[in-house]
Parts: sequence; structure tokens; C-alpha cells
Amino acid sequence: RTFVTLRISVIGTGYLGATHAACMAELGYEVIGVDVDKAKLESLAAGILPFHEPGLPELLRKNVASGRLRFTDDYEDVAANADIHFITVGTPQRADSQSADLSYVDGAVDSLLEHITGDALIVGKSTVPVGTARRLSEKIAQDAKPGSNIAIAWNPEFLREGFAVKDTLRPDRLVYGLEDGRGLELLREVYASVLAQDVPEIVTDLETAELVKVAANAFLATKISFINAFAEVTETVGGNIKTLADAIGHDKRIGRQFLNAGVGFGGGCLPKDIRALQARVSELGLTQTMGFLGEVDQINLRRRDRVVSLASNMLGNELAGKHICVLGVTFKPNSDDVRDSPALDIAVRLYNAGAEVSVYDPEGNANAAGRFPRLNYVDSHQEAARNADLTLVLTEWQEFRDLDPNELGEVVASKMLIDGRNVLDRPAWREQGWVMTGPGEYFEL
Ligand code: UGA
Repeated sequence: RTFVTLRISVIGTGYLGATHAACMAELGYEVIGVDVDKAKLESLAAGILPFHEPGLPELLRKNVASGRLRFTDDYEDVAANADIHFITVGTPQRADSQSADLSYVDGAVDSLLEHITGDALIVGKSTVPVGTARRLSEKIAQDAKPGSNIAIAWNPEFLREGFAVKDTLRPDRLVYGLEDGRGLELLREVYASVLAQDVPEIVTDLETAELVKVAANAFLATKISFINAFAEVTETVGGNIKTLADAIGHDKRIGRQFLNAGVGFGGGCLPKDIRALQARVSELGLTQTMGFLGEVDQINLRRRDRVVSLASNMLGNELAGKHICVLGVTFKPNSDDVRDSPALDIAVRLYNAGAEVSVYDPEGNANAAGRFPRLNYVDSHQEAARNADLTLVLTEWQEFRDLDPNELGEVVASKMLIDGRNVLDRPAWREQGWVMTGPGEYFEL
């Protein structure tokens, strides 16, 4: 059955959910954002986004003001006033293992089943271990209220932080995993204006849809660790990692993107997704199949060790009492997210080794301070660099790409720098007297 006006709920108003809800409203639908966190709901209803995402606050405010987007924690309201329910709750890594915690996904579906009495489509967007949608379908068959007619589909999301709105309204592809084709017409209706921009549509089964998402993230993580493994080689034997990446990247089968050696990948997705995938595949009895992702993880974590030991070497093997300036604490630029951030981890490790660490990030200070209050957070790169014995650039914000070696040279105590993302022009900086190095570079003091 098709509905006259699409009435949509988006359950879980974190990064993915807040973006999806605002974008669905932008497409003209009636949207209800749902969460258990009342403070978050109040903030969103007032048009205030609790995280940094370019372009999203404007979209949120516009659609709240128009009345197309509202927020609630009341599932009775949700079941009565929406027909398509997107599940966008988190699936974090469990504290006691590498597996994904599915309690929020199950909680959302249970709450829906308690209240839905008519026709509905539940569409999972959260990243889940393969087999979850099939299990939820069995739950629906068992627990749905008599008289209701509920289908499930899986529609993974590929948005990147910093590009969330664009990636939602103009994605590289749309993927729907369906059960017996149910839900296809409705999903096509939901995404009609997106599909009209020639976005490829992939219609498949539930398992494939779940796997597409984790396969994409595992591939991206592998690509980054691949180049970082070569960085370890060039750090030892000499060579230029950027030139190597450019040269192999010209091969269209390889491609240049995601071949930037650096301090490694972090964030709320790549690290936890490769761990959850290994855990799930092992559960299926394939204990060796995803073993290479363990290596991908290890290579990634060794990037942080490398920066910490370089810092120590550059400071005469003594970190205690040294003043270190850390520029960038988020896991990547244009984000205030510090989840599993290599930059924050490095800053904390230097602090724990006795250094005085001053941190500046254009957007990430508050979140980093929430997790690790003992670093000295300051409001500008100049302030962070004042009297620094060593400066680290760990996130490639434009502000840091534009740093002036002369200007910075005037405030630091010592012109020593680690360019953790290879974004500064080495010869120009060296000409101004800086001793510096970065990923992939053979370096001897
Ligand atoms: C990632 C995927 O790119 C999205 O497609 C996916 O939807 C999302 O996870 C998710 O699962 O929700 P995101 O976590 O926003 O998106 O960040 P990325 O842009 O993928 O960057 C991940 C990390 O890799 C960052 O720490 C970044 O600095 C690092 N990176 C990226 C490198 O170290 N080198 C590169 O060449 C590229």
C-alpha cells in the first residue's frame, strides 16, 4: 500500500539520525525524530544541533520552523503518526568484546512493535552484524500486534562526517535489502528525488545490504592501513610516501583517495566496524576469514606509537616537563568528533609520559575536554604553540594547512614539528629553520 503523504519517523537522533531526519523533512515529508534522551530532543526542537556538521543546523532550523520536523520520545505518538520508521540508533563496540552492542536496535524495534497496530515499514539504517535484519524479521513475526502488517528492509547509510547533508541528499548509491520485495515501492517513493539525480539504486536481500556497509568501511580502513604499512617501509629505508601514493593512485583500479598516510583512522565507524566484522565472522565459524582486519587494526594503532616515539626522540628521549603543542584533536577535520581519535590518544599518551600538553582544535576542544579534562585546552594555535618545545599537527584542518612557519616560529621555544598528516610544505618550513618530519619520512635528528 502507498500512503498519501509520507509520514516518517527516524529513531535515534545522533549523528546519522539527526541528519537523516532533517534531510527527509527537507524532501517535503512529515518527519518525527525519536530519542530517549530528552535533553537532546529539546535541543533539536529548538533548532540546536548538539554536534558540528556544516550545513545541517540551517536545515534543522528551517524544517523545524516549517512544522515538517518535530521530536518526541513517545512511541505511541510515533506509531500513530508515521508509517515508515527508520532505525538510526548507535551500534557501539561492547565494553567487554569486539562485538557490536545491538541493545539500542532491539530496543527501538521492541518499542515500535508494542505500539504499531496497522501497516508499517521498518527500515534499518544502523550498521549491524550480518544476520541482524533476519533476526528482527523473526521478532516482528512473533511479537507484532494482531492486525498489524509490518515489513522490514535494510537501507545502509554511507555518509561521512563533514559531508553528511550532501552524502544523504546526493549519495554515491542507494542500497535496499528487502524481504520478498516488500517495501520496495515505498522506499522508491521516499527517495524519488534522490534517484532522479541518477543515483544508482541497488535492490538486494537483507544479508547483502548489511554486508555492503561493513565491506565498504573495511575496504576503506584496509586502504588506509595499506599505505600506512608502506609508510613504515619508507620511514626505514627512505622514499616519499606521497609520491608513492600518487603513482599507484593514477591506476584507476586503485584510485588516489584514502591513500593518505598519517596518524591513522579513527572516529565512530571505521575502527569499531572492522572489529565487529571480525567478531561476527568468527561467530559464524570463519575464524580466519577476516584475520587480515586484525592486521589492519594493528598497523593503524602503530601509527600512534610512531608519533609518540618520534616526539620522545626529538625531545632528547625525555618527555617529562617538556611543553608540547598539539594542533587538532578530532579524528578528522570539519568535525568536532573525538571518538577513537588518534590525535587525542597521542596527546593523552604524551601527557601521561609527563609532558605539558597544550591543545587547540577549531571545533574539538570541548568534546576532548569532556573525555580528558587534564590537557591544557586553549583558544588559538598561537596560544597552544607559545613556548612549545615541539609542535604536532595531528588533524589536517585548513587553518593548520595555512600555518605560517615564520609566524609560528616567533612564539615557539624550539622550531621542531611533526606534521602528522603530511600537509605542510617541508622545504618552505625547513628554509625557515624548522626541524620537522612526518609519516613515511626517513628521519634522523
Ligand atoms: C566513514 C566512511 O567514510 C563513511 O562512508 C561511512 O558512512 C561512515 O564511516 C560510517 O560508517 O558512518 P567517517 O567516519 O565520517 O566516514 O570518516 P572518513 O572520512 O572515512 O575518515 C575516517 C578516518 O580515516 C579519519 O580518521 C581520517 O583522518 C582517516 N583517513 C582517511 C586517513 O588517515 N587517510 C586517508 O587517506 C583517509
